[in-house]
Amino acid sequence: MNQLNRRGFLRAASAATAGTMLGPRLFALAAGQAEPAKRISANDKIQVALIGAGWRGQGITAEAVQVPGVKLVAVADCYNGRLDHSKELWGNDLFTTRDYTQILARKDIDAVIIGTPDHWHMKVAVDAMKAGKDVYCEKPMIHLYSDGPTMIEASKSTGRILQVGSQRVSSLIYGKAKELLASGAIGQLNMVQARWDRNSTMGAWSYTIPMDASTETCDWERFLGTAPKIAWNPEHFFQWRKWKAYGSGVAGDLFVHLFSGTHFITGSHGPVRGMATGGLRFWKDGRDAPDVMLGLFDYNEGFNLALRVNFVDGGEESEGLVFTGSEGTMEIGGNFVSVNRVPRETDPGLAMGSYTFDMQKRLTEAHDKKYPAKHPDQAPPVGFEKYVAPEGYSDTYDHFKNFFASVRSRKPVTEDAVFGFRAAGAALLSNMSIEKSAVINWDPENMKVV
Ligand SMILES: NC(=O)c1ccc[n+]([C@@H]2O[C@H](COP(=O)([O-])OP(=O)(O)OC[C@H]3O[C@@H](n4cnc5c(N)ncnc54)[C@H](O)[C@@H]3O)[C@@H](O)[C@H]2O)c1
Repeated sequence: MNQLNRRGFLRAASAATAGTMLGPRLFALAAGQAEPAKRISANDKIQVALIGAGWRGQGITAEAVQVPGVKLVAVADCYNGRLDHSKELWGNDLFTTRDYTQILARKDIDAVIIGTPDHWHMKVAVDAMKAGKDVYCEKPMIHLYSDGPTMIEASKSTGRILQVGSQRVSSLIYGKAKELLASGAIGQLNMVQARWDRNSTMGAWSYTIPMDASTETCDWERFLGTAPKIAWNPEHFFQWRKWKAYGSGVAGDLFVHLFSGTHFITGSHGPVRGMATGGLRFWKDGRDAPDVMLGLFDYNEGFNLALRVNFVDGGEESEGLVFTGSEGTMEIGGNFVSVNRVPRETDPGLAMGSYTFDMQKRLTEAHDKKYPAKHPDQAPPVGFEKYVAPEGYSDTYDHFKNFFASVRSRKPVTEDAVFGFRAAGAALLSNMSIEKSAVINWDPENMKVV
């Protein structure tokens, strides 16, 4: 079986002439995915609860319950409207509460999905693992650096599974990109550039506030948790990403996906140095997190990473990564990965216009002798390949499938606490660099600022 078919890929179409690199080659990725680790019987249900039922929590839980043998039994959230909507979605039998510890006390719940704001991730995850639950925790795994070792230690000492929710590491597309890089498709990697550009109110985190938002319908004290105690503020409650007290800025929100993807594809543990710059350029609505950020990172594996998030890009919203190697480039977009190779000319050419005519003549003769003229069809071949995920493909579903397979088998997940800390820790270097106006050194093996 060739490399393309090995992991469930289907060669659907090819415009290439066999044996040549000319022209585009289009492949579609098969809808079929790897079999679950263990056959799931009807009685073998994993009972789950959702803690933090906002738009992401509800969205991913809808995918989680599509995995065979998974049942949602409880939801915790700080806003009544989201508890009510959870019942609308999943039925009146659903147990709902504002207090997630009531969920952790239940013996019939095997695993929790955490979709709270970032400043609650560590506390809820550690409490859940200590209560014997396996955990799927949304990215970024950490809000503060001190959260990382605490979560790694809790996962180790309790023996619970912790999967971090940067779902791209379970994606067919990212898996294909990893395979392409390892196969030498673009030669020696020297640079990765990744961007996340937005140009809309929702893209800039100004999410809609429900008309009944109040201290009656929202548990403001519980939402605040360890954040500074301030008076009720519906913007902070529903648009928390804009403030550092709850969110981790564009770095924790979006750079983290780009780090997870880069680390998964390259196998790297993270950068050794990072610096960032940016500012609040447009969305001056009281937020304290920048809306434009650029970051530069050095990797000991011999490549540099350049990241960009721009919420004011004045154009089309887009995200993507470009891996540049000695022999080509590899691009990842929403549902595809493509490779483009334009081999270097073996003929070095001549740059001699400023020399005497006699010298130009002599150089030309010497050059033509060494590099006889080629027929046009002997021009270096250009290679282009594109792999597209099937319509409706969901990497979140695959990420949950991986999580629940580990819940059953107790084998490691794709994105454990160490992976999660290495991605989120690297992302937070950017915030630290801006705060300190300095280049920050990071030890990716020991996950420490040095
Ligand atoms: N993986 C991805 O692609 C992706 C995409 C979007 C969001 N996220 C992550 O998901 C998380 C949630 O984001 P969101 O956009 O859904 O936010 P959201 O504001 O829509 O939802 C968060 C919910 O958590 C609830 N909450 C707050 N404190 C709580 C507590 N102590 N106990 C129970 N519930 C609590 C809030 O009431 C709110 O309903 C964030 O960490 C975010 O980074 C990940």
